[in-house]
Amino acid sequence: MIDSKLIRKDFPMYENHITMQKHDLVYLDNASTTFKPYAVLKAEEEYNTRFTSNTHRGDYDLCFYNDTKLAEVRHTVAEFINANDDEVVFTSGTTMSINFVALGYAAKHLIKDDEILLSVSEHASNVLPWYRVSQITGCKIKFIPLENGRITPENVKKTLSKHTKIVAIAHVSNVLGYVNDIKAIAKVVHEAGAIIAVDGAQSVPHMKIDVKDLDIDFLSFSGHKMCGPTGTGVLYGKANLLEETDPVFGGGGMNVKFDTDVSVKYLSAPTKFEAGTLHLEGIYGLEAAVKYLDEIGMENIEVLEKNLRRYAISELKKVPDLVIYNEDAEAGIITFNKKGVFAQDLATYLNSKGIAVRSGQHCAKMLHHYLNEIATVRMSIYFYTTKEDIDALVNALKNGGHFLDAYFA
Ligand SMILES: Cc1ncc(COP(=O)(O)O)c(C=O)c1O
Repeated sequence: MIDSKLIRKDFPMYENHITMQKHDLVYLDNASTTFKPYAVLKAEEEYNTRFTSNTHRGDYDLCFYNDTKLAEVRHTVAEFINANDDEVVFTSGTTMSINFVALGYAAKHLIKDDEILLSVSEHASNVLPWYRVSQITGCKIKFIPLENGRITPENVKKTLSKHTKIVAIAHVSNVLGYVNDIKAIAKVVHEAGAIIAVDGAQSVPHMKIDVKDLDIDFLSFSGHKMCGPTGTGVLYGKANLLEETDPVFGGGGMNVKFDTDVSVKYLSAPTKFEAGTLHLEGIYGLEAAVKYLDEIGMENIEVLEKNLRRYAISELKKVPDLVIYNEDAEAGIITFNKKGVFAQDLATYLNSKGIAVRSGQHCAKMLHHYLNEIATVRMSIYFYTTKEDIDALVNALKNGGHFLDAYFA
């Protein structure tokens, strides 16, 4: 069992945050980014203070050390999602990972009249790269209808056609928190001869992911949403697909040779995608984050978040005039509005009580058609969130006083 209160001692933000003079911090914006434990900070510092050097570019001990360590980190990350080491590419985050698939794979393979399937609940990072592919190749973008907010295998099947080449969807919606049945969806997609590219930004940090069991073709996720440093992320791709994917960036460290006749030979995957000097301190921080999460146990994290979500829903339902859009979702993301109060005003009011939530469209700018709301407030938890955090939110929502009453005047 995880004790969220005890675990907070691992997170310096709870002791040092800059808003400390004003109030305690109730941080409920973990879908946006997460706090970093000391272990991650130490790993980053060690790189800077004990073994700074580049990788694959030097014939001295420090370089050898980093070459070996980079391979070890790749192995740690690969094991975390049950991938092979050479199927793990280090990127700057989910956004870069998806762009690699879109521009490096899809733009190379798709032609006019081919189709890419998305959903209206996707984050901008899982929409705009595919729009680029459509602009480059002339392929079509189609949308899988949502079923009570979810992407179901049945609706995927209905939307697939003989022209569909790629289905690109989030494992967990960053607004609605529904966990899509990726295993069943992947089966349907593969039966139709297409591939599935999964945006794992909101799933990998919160549950055990096994890319082989789910039969995912490409998986993208971000380090900073799982206690790791910003500017780190991963692209997983099945080995044969990564081989068929072109690098989007060219530069040092990813080529075998190039010459004046404009010829170039790239290294094989994953190195061919990692052009230029890597964000090594971040990558080592990411490894520390993965080890930290592994030690706590992804299953434990999932259970804790489910229980906390259940508690949050039961308490939030007691708040008058609160509209919850995803009461039945599984992930620790709860999206709501207070009747008659504009979402951003509500978030600003909550901020005055030291409560950090997000308001607006949460980068999923097509979803408001579905929700029929221009903006919503989103609270999102992680394993260091406590019942007291939820209570603070609920109390603030119940006791808005003049501020919230003003709307009804
Ligand atoms: C579902 C989803 N996809 C993609 C992203 C983009 O992640 P990043 O900004 O780390 O690249 C986010 C970030 O909020 C997200 O929630």
